[in-house]
Amino acid sequence: MQHRPSFRFFEPLLYRGRFYKESCQSVVLSRGGSDVRPFAYSTPRLAEEGQVFLPLPFRHEGLSALARMREHAAPLGEIQERLGVEAGQEAAFHAFFTEQAPVRAERFAGPGVRVRYFGHACLLIESRDVTVLVDPSISYEYPTELPRFTFADLPERIDYVLITHGHGDHINLETLLQLRHKVGTVVVPHSSSGMADLSLKLLLRAIGFPRVMDLDELESIELPGGRILGLPFLGEHADLDVRAKLVYLVQLEGRSVLAASDTNCLEPRVYEYLREDVGALDALFLSMESEGAPMSWGYGHMFTSPLPRKMDQARRLNGANFARAAPLVDLLGPKRVYNYSMGLEPWLGHVMGLAYTATSPQILESDKFIAYCRERGIHAERPFARLELNLG
Ligand SMILES: [Fe+2]
Ligand SMILES: [Fe+2]
Repeated sequence: MQHRPSFRFFEPLLYRGRFYKESCQSVVLSRGGSDVRPFAYSTPRLAEEGQVFLPLPFRHEGLSALARMREHAAPLGEIQERLGVEAGQEAAFHAFFTEQAPVRAERFAGPGVRVRYFGHACLLIESRDVTVLVDPSISYEYPTELPRFTFADLPERIDYVLITHGHGDHINLETLLQLRHKVGTVVVPHSSSGMADLSLKLLLRAIGFPRVMDLDELESIELPGGRILGLPFLGEHADLDVRAKLVYLVQLEGRSVLAASDTNCLEPRVYEYLREDVGALDALFLSMESEGAPMSWGYGHMFTSPLPRKMDQARRLNGANFARAAPLVDLLGPKRVYNYSMGLEPWLGHVMGLAYTATSPQILESDKFIAYCRERGIHAERPFARLELNLG
């Protein structure tokens, strides 16, 4: 168009050719005894006392078998062999296991819908018939003053995992690999196949998820007693054509929850048009990522020359601020508003790499937003660590 050339990018070939090196993948097992961990994207990792290094591709089925052992006992020798644990690592490996039977989480039996906030952007939405987990980032159990939901609080089976977008705090491979054995279908946003818009479907299939489906805007999945509807996710795109982002409306048993993630209400008219599709909303979960990362953090490597600083700053990956979030509340009229996905939980420090104070712009914007909702008689809060919500 406009007599300008463009690229045709054959993304599936990326996973077949010499650029996809599974030898770059490996797993480190260690005991979770603290919320403080090294930043997730600092590699390579050097061996530490008590850790077990497994040079395995993420798709390796032994990793699912290991995760399954949280709930179902299996012989230690068998899993050790399957994972190829070396002789020198045996003692460290055995220290991860116990002969004590786990306490099973009871399945939600209704009536209505239960929503559990597992921290940051992770929500478990359950009816008596369906279990949906959004943006899984699950914490683990250890003696701590800060109670939270952990892997032990997940049901035996998760019907749908919904991924809102490809940022590390929303598509957490560490958690996903530990859930692979119990997930029915992973739902991801449809991408445009552009070079700056990587397909999450191809990525998850390559790492061993057999059932991944992509959903486009206004497409839905029928559920027993409801549906999942994909809605537009604006913002956080650094002015690039990034489409692999979706907001999910989960409707079950006549209740309705919108996991709006890091969306930015850049054009309120979009939501004006969608108001009828959304209908009555029991709970709106929305982030306030008003100061996103500079463009170069996500996309700098795709430019043929370094980004001028002015561009890098002007095209930040911003989510909503108060002024952008308020119209969403006015247009959709939710009964409850939760300003989630704020990176507050200490156990996600290794992914978020940030620490807010009471005067951080994100928190100031969030405070204004919550006050705005409350003035309108809407229940509003900023959840921290854990929260349970029973709808109906
Ligand atoms: Fe994001
Ligand atoms: Fe986020």
